[in-house]
Amino acid sequence: MNMHQIFSLLFVYKFYLIFLWLSETQGKILGFEKKHVGYKLDQLLVKKNLFKYVPVMKQECTKCPRLDPEVNMNVTQLLTSKGYPCEDYTVETKDGFLLSVQRVAHGLNNKNITNRPVVFLQHGLLCTSTNWVTNLINESLAFILADEGYEVWMGNSRGNTYSRRHRTLSPDQDEFWAWSWDEMGEYDFPAMIDFALNVSGKTSLYYVGHSQGTTQAFIQLSQNPEFGEKIKLFFALAPVATVGSIESPIRYLSALKDETIYEVLKRRDFLPSNRILDILADTVCRSKELRFLCANVLFLIAGYDTSNLNNSRLPVYINHTPAGCSVQDLIHYLQGYRSGIFRKYDYGSAEQNEKYYGQPTPPQYNVSRITAPVALFYGANDWLADLKDVALLIPKIQNLKAKIEIPQWNHLDFIWGENAATKVYNTVIQMIKDNP
Ligand SMILES: *[C@@H]1O[C@H](CO)[C@@H](O)[C@H](O)[C@H]1NC(C)=O
Ligand SMILES: *[C@@H]1O[C@H](CO)[C@@H](O)[C@H](O)[C@H]1NC(C)=O
Ligand SMILES: *[C@@H]1O[C@H](CO)[C@@H](O)[C@H](O)[C@H]1NC(C)=O
Ligand SMILES: *[C@@H]1O[C@H](CO)[C@@H](O)[C@H](O)[C@H]1NC(C)=O
Ligand SMILES: *[C@@H]1O[C@H](CO)[C@@H](O)[C@H](O)[C@H]1NC(C)=O
Ligand SMILES: *[C@@H]1O[C@H](CO)[C@@H](O)[C@H](O)[C@H]1NC(C)=O
Repeated sequence: MNMHQIFSLLFVYKFYLIFLWLSETQGKILGFEKKHVGYKLDQLLVKKNLFKYVPVMKQECTKCPRLDPEVNMNVTQLLTSKGYPCEDYTVETKDGFLLSVQRVAHGLNNKNITNRPVVFLQHGLLCTSTNWVTNLINESLAFILADEGYEVWMGNSRGNTYSRRHRTLSPDQDEFWAWSWDEMGEYDFPAMIDFALNVSGKTSLYYVGHSQGTTQAFIQLSQNPEFGEKIKLFFALAPVATVGSIESPIRYLSALKDETIYEVLKRRDFLPSNRILDILADTVCRSKELRFLCANVLFLIAGYDTSNLNNSRLPVYINHTPAGCSVQDLIHYLQGYRSGIFRKYDYGSAEQNEKYYGQPTPPQYNVSRITAPVALFYGANDWLADLKDVALLIPKIQNLKAKIEIPQWNHLDFIWGENAATKVYNTVIQMIKDNP
């Protein structure tokens, strides 16, 4: 991809970005060509005669395949429709964000068990708590843990579908979106963990983070190692600290200045779960030959491993993700790609950094300060948690309980892989039992 293409890419609506990356990398399969770069999504749909799928959805649906009802369920309904309990809580962070958190008090047939250990699950970039309940009961981590006798909590990071609320700010304001994973680590992570401990009456819990869910834990636990006393064991699935070696096409954007990206994408939310995405999930994914497209719109940032993915569940995944994050969050990853350093957000100039941090460059996170026990699980083919970055992380973890590499796996196999239960979740549960 050359600079000219990157620029033409940026001057269209943000969702089309993904679409155009698709045309660059995988487009040939669908017949998209270079000349389509610059087209708006609706023009592209017309051009490729895909629009015919759009009206079908609302009108003559006798002809179309039945959609899985889970496509339109929210996290609460995904649990309750299967007979699981789900309590929704709102957790306020120190900087005023109102986060949606779910508690699954017990499993299908074990209401009686008392004194359940607590397991907290935290999703990654552009995702939500639905990540842990969108596969079958025997394949989704939240269901499996609840049925194994654990009390399960699931967090939602600021800015995602369920956590677009703030005590004083509104998502229409730039200020609402002025954060990255720094703030998730500093505010969201401790607020949600303290809340879960308070309600459950426990002093410590097991934490399972995926992707950005691991980043926030690395941040809090390195800045404030004493917080680690609340974490019995931290399971880091697809751990993300340094990102200097990522394969994700998102890295192409790092050639641009942060200011240029802000000018185009604005200082707001990146890829919210919106109407366009609903329409795509409802319609395009029904067509067999377009399944590939759906897989890639979603998997293009995080990579894909189609052989380990249940294709008939794609509409469910796609309607729940991408679920929104801030443009600043994305830019923080691009900064990390450029620098190869795990450090705070760079405000762009020595003066600005001086203002926020009292030093001209962003302070680094020192992962070696973490005292909590950590178990790392990483895929050999992960586009966002690359083996080279993981190799930098491993020697820094003082209390390393396990490092488990899963061959072939990419970033999203940890939540949606058909073999996630056998390859990872069973090991997680065994390690919980071995570390009471
Ligand atoms: C899911 O939808 C139901 C019904 O509209 C609502 O009561 C519930 O609060 C929603 N859950 C979340 C987490 O937003
Ligand atoms: C659960 O509790 C009910 C009544 O409280 C009791 O009849 C049943 O035997 C208990 N089941 C187990 C597995 O302990
Ligand atoms: C879960 O159950 C389904 C249907 O019963 C089965 O096809 C699948 O192989 C099971 N998955 C695992 C990981 O056991
Ligand atoms: C814990 O719960 C109690 C009662 O619900 C509440 O008053 C208190 O503020 C909570 N503390 C924290 C740290 O959430
Ligand atoms: C794949 O998803 C479909 C639809 O939800 C389900 O019926 C089937 O059992 C799933 N297959 C596996 C192996 O999980
Ligand atoms: C990072 O923390 C470790 C452990 O506390 C310490 O030995 C090391 O000096 C720290 N490194 C930096 C650069 O501060």
